Amino acid sequence: MDDKVYIFDTTLRDGEQVPGCQLNTIEKIEVAKALEALGVDIIEAGFPISSPGDFNSVVEITKAVSEPIICGLTRAVQRDIEVAAEALRFAKRPRIHTGIGTSDYHIYNKLRSNPDDILERAVAAVAYAKKFVEDVEFYAEDAGRTGNEFLAKVVQAVIAAGATVVNIPDTTGYTIPEEFGAKIKYLVENVKGIEKAIIATHCHNDLGMATANTIAGLMNGARQAEVTINGIGERAGNTSLEEVAMILQSRKDIPLRTDIQSKKIFSTSRLVSTLMRMPVQPNKAIVGRNAFAHSSGIHQDGVLKNRENYEIIDPVDVGINQSSIVLTARSGRAALNHRLEINGIKLSKEELDVAYDKFLTLADKKKDVNDEDLLLLLNMGKINKHKIKLDHLQVISGSTPLPTAIIRLNVNGELLSGSAIGNGPINASFTAVQNILKKKVKLEEFLIQAITRGSDDLGKVHVQIESNGISYYGFAANTDIITASVEAFLDAIEKANGFGFKKEEAGNNGTHVEYVQQESVNAI
Ligand code: KIV
Ligand code: ZN
Repeated sequence: MDDKVYIFDTTLRDGEQVPGCQLNTIEKIEVAKALEALGVDIIEAGFPISSPGDFNSVVEITKAVSEPIICGLTRAVQRDIEVAAEALRFAKRPRIHTGIGTSDYHIYNKLRSNPDDILERAVAAVAYAKKFVEDVEFYAEDAGRTGNEFLAKVVQAVIAAGATVVNIPDTTGYTIPEEFGAKIKYLVENVKGIEKAIIATHCHNDLGMATANTIAGLMNGARQAEVTINGIGERAGNTSLEEVAMILQSRKDIPLRTDIQSKKIFSTSRLVSTLMRMPVQPNKAIVGRNAFAHSSGIHQDGVLKNRENYEIIDPVDVGINQSSIVLTARSGRAALNHRLEINGIKLSKEELDVAYDKFLTLADKKKDVNDEDLLLLLNMGKINKHKIKLDHLQVISGSTPLPTAIIRLNVNGELLSGSAIGNGPINASFTAVQNILKKKVKLEEFLIQAITRGSDDLGKVHVQIESNGISYYGFAANTDIITASVEAFLDAIEKANGFGFKKEEAGNNGTHVEYVQQESVNAI
């Protein structure tokens, strides 16, 4: 049996069913292109009959994306199938995904039918879809709770009717890995003609078993995994793409592979999270903020000696530049020194000893100690030592006039001014800074945290920028969140310039009102 596992991404269909996460067509195209670059084999682009918007998105995705198979979902209903075929008419490689519930719950309680009727409708749907496209996938909804014997009968009949892929969904996320693996094995061993179709897993995460069940299915003969980015989906979500891809990539003892370009995983995760406004939980495997963060002293020391002591995946392999060392009261000198070095601070052994004592006192009071705390703690007056300082900031926000920022920077003692409009005051401010410095950087991450201290609300801002292929972090805290954002941005730029920004690179005194569209800072 071939060792290739086909990755079927349903972020835009099953994933998009999450309330509040709906995307417009332009956003869906952006995700579809990212999925293509990521190397997914099949994109389930939508459920065309469900709404004109979904229909239109499927049409547009078939035009925008050429490599992967594009799939449209239907019920086992002729009109659904006709509409899906119509939506897929421009696809280079179209697939119709049709199906019906096969568990007793679905047969008797949902469809108010009987097994013979369901079998007939399943076969009729596949045969009808075959009139429009060659590639027809059949799903046996709630297969997880369907008796194996009846499931095998349905699967055999739909393959005989021309199904190229048979999808075995654990719709309610009820099964456990041993059981789900055994179900796939049963089909492999008992369905006549099974070699003519690919078996797909489609697991939901209601009991936290989606990835484990998917892997069990693959190890027992399934060769297509239906997944979503970040595991998003209704209720507890679907199987997460990044988990399946990285399990198969890092466990060399499992003789299976995907064509996923793993270095694109992190950026795709962040794109989906941003567009769907659905944060990734910090401890999410592979893509969570803490997935490669080490906070205990023993672990930090171990990672600094050799990454593999505590990391089974190199963060670089999923597109994260480096593992982060989180400083807490359990951190050792090596971790403190490492963090200081990242911030451009080199201390002698004696200085480090003094700094470490101060750090421990602070870390006892605070959950984790961030860069700004460290620098303030070490009395380095980071912002004051900057070569580029914010001298004046004035913003206008609202819709008319457009959000505008007027900024004056002190660059090596010289005052330079500029202004810009943007789709939000922070966007305008960042554009103005770049105009003044005549420097374009890519904003990779932007995070605002509000800390309430009595009547004083202090906003902390973390930014991450990319300059010449390297990521730099910037941080600032201020009671004015826009000032904090600009200072954090300048902090990152300062680091990108090695604390030595060349004056001649910056613009002359005077105002640049030019509007530069900056895709990465959207409407903030
Ligand atoms: O979970 C499920 O059963 C589904 C099918 C429509 C494939 O999403
Ligand atoms: Zn599903």
